[in-house]
Amino acid sequence: MLTIDPAGPGWRFTGNELRYLTEVLDNGFSAGADGSMVERVEALFAETMGLSYAIGFNSGTSTLHAAMVALGVGPGDEVIVPALSPGMCGFTPLHAGGRAVVVDVDRDTFLMDPADVEHRITDRTRVIMPVHLYGQVCDMDALMAIAARHGLKVLEDCAQCYLGTDPKGRIGGTIGDAGSWSFENSKHLSCGEGGIIGCDDAALAESIRKVGGLGFRNLTAASGKVRVDRDKLQDPAWARHDRIGYNYRLGGLPAAVALAQIERMRAFIDLRIAMGESFRRALAGSALLRPQATPEGAVNSHYTFAARFDGLDHGIAWQDFRKTFMSQGGDGIYAAWMPIHKEPAFRDTALAGARCPVTEWLQTRLMQFTTNQRDAAERDAQVDALIATLRHFGDTV
Ligand SMILES: Cc1ncc(COP(=O)(O)O)c(C=O)c1O
Repeated sequence: MLTIDPAGPGWRFTGNELRYLTEVLDNGFSAGADGSMVERVEALFAETMGLSYAIGFNSGTSTLHAAMVALGVGPGDEVIVPALSPGMCGFTPLHAGGRAVVVDVDRDTFLMDPADVEHRITDRTRVIMPVHLYGQVCDMDALMAIAARHGLKVLEDCAQCYLGTDPKGRIGGTIGDAGSWSFENSKHLSCGEGGIIGCDDAALAESIRKVGGLGFRNLTAASGKVRVDRDKLQDPAWARHDRIGYNYRLGGLPAAVALAQIERMRAFIDLRIAMGESFRRALAGSALLRPQATPEGAVNSHYTFAARFDGLDHGIAWQDFRKTFMSQGGDGIYAAWMPIHKEPAFRDTALAGARCPVTEWLQTRLMQFTTNQRDAAERDAQVDALIATLRHFGDTV
């Protein structure tokens, strides 16, 4: 009997992962009595999020691309994305034949600034893509109001935000037209590589599924497997594709791991929140590090713990702080990605000349601390290292 060592690096995969993987192979990749593994993932995810439809994908980038195509983004169309987000958020509008327009972020929440969104809308804007960075939901009330005023669609990128909620208690990803999540390995839940997208609109769900599922015409909003009369299916006159599509499907083996992970979603998120809150408590009164501001009543699901390093104003180098933290037993500190418009990949696009002053300033200061510790002992070690580092640099925490 195969097992995974709960004290080893695979500790996150000690639920039903092996059992479901075996089921997929035992069934020869055919659906078992409970349906296919992908269908089970989609059903459980939709139920957990309170969405009508969920569609499994092979990444949280392909979800965004397929959704943009399904939402009608095409040549000349603009998609508004925050400048402070990973390159994928800039690539996907290009993949759809449109282009990304970057907007600035708020200096305290680090999230898309609705006032700047309003400024950058043109008659070619089709979609606003809020990115719920670090586990925190953007100001969706303001963004939805802007979208309604201008007749735009809203695609929420929740790759980093599982069960984060806004001050009204709404789960990120369930507020706009569609919400997209990633199962890449650093995320709250992982199957190595994978993604899922959800929405409440049947026509949109069917369209997203077809774009990601090779355009097979028998696909529906609810299912990737529709039984077709064999006499029809095997007839030379059977036409299969009613639109152009990509093969972005989630495979049975990653779906098996994803299903086991979704079953334990709450527990994984609570671990990250516990680490984030411990860091936040440790920083009370710090002059050097200012945590991502979370509005009253909102829940930050802490994909990572993000903070602005104001030590630069006190003559402390970002790299020195990181080195000291690590020498005290801290995990690494990640910097924020380059602002999208500064990435070399976009040098020949319209993005190259963009200006987002808050993002450009913030990006040189942001520090992202890991939140994937497995227990209180590991969390305490990180907090102790942070406090020792702050004191080393004269902070009065
Ligand atoms: C905010 C954001 N959007 C999109 C993605 C893309 O997800 P994936 O790596 O699954 O393609 C990521 C993940 O790295 C992300 O952090």
